[in-house]
Amino acid sequence: MNMAASYSLQNFIEDLDRITRAEPSQESIVAKAKPLLAKLIERPDCLDEKYTRRGSTAYGRYMLHRAPLFNISSVVWGPGDNAKAHNHDTWGLVGVIENEIQETRYRRNDDGAKASYAELEVTGVVNNKAGMVSCLVAPADDIHEMNNVTDRNTVEIHVYGKDLTDMPRLRFDIATKAVKTFASPKYDNC
Ligand SMILES: [Fe+2]
Repeated sequence: MNMAASYSLQNFIEDLDRITRAEPSQESIVAKAKPLLAKLIERPDCLDEKYTRRGSTAYGRYMLHRAPLFNISSVVWGPGDNAKAHNHDTWGLVGVIENEIQETRYRRNDDGAKASYAELEVTGVVNNKAGMVSCLVAPADDIHEMNNVTDRNTVEIHVYGKDLTDMPRLRFDIATKAVKTFASPKYDNC
């Protein structure tokens, strides 16, 4: 039997339960969890089909598992869907199951002392393909922008150390250097 092919969402949840309890830092959680998410997304059928659909008016977001120390969701970006530069205020993992996503990563160069102002510098633009996992660690490396520049849906699994629903975060306007607070709405399924 191919063990990698049999690694399920339930296996991943159990492993993350153990890892998030045992590991002392965001860096070590991300380091341990990254290869496991990569193993999970090797299976194109790792998600129930109902969690792989775009929403009717926006990109799809579905909560798959909420635990005290982490949560797992799926995100479905339609053609042209995007999320402008934003932070997460926690660790995160983004694994691409289907198609690809263009991710722009930023470093913040100012000290945050000036209200509603931030200087961001692009540190990389990557086309994350199916099977790839990208990592976030706050506050040093948790700002990115996502763009589906392709003509079909991109399906991802996201893992975060905090529940982002209604949590105040920052969205950055790169051109004007303005910063605004925003919060993610409820997920499409809960
Ligand atoms: Fe994000």
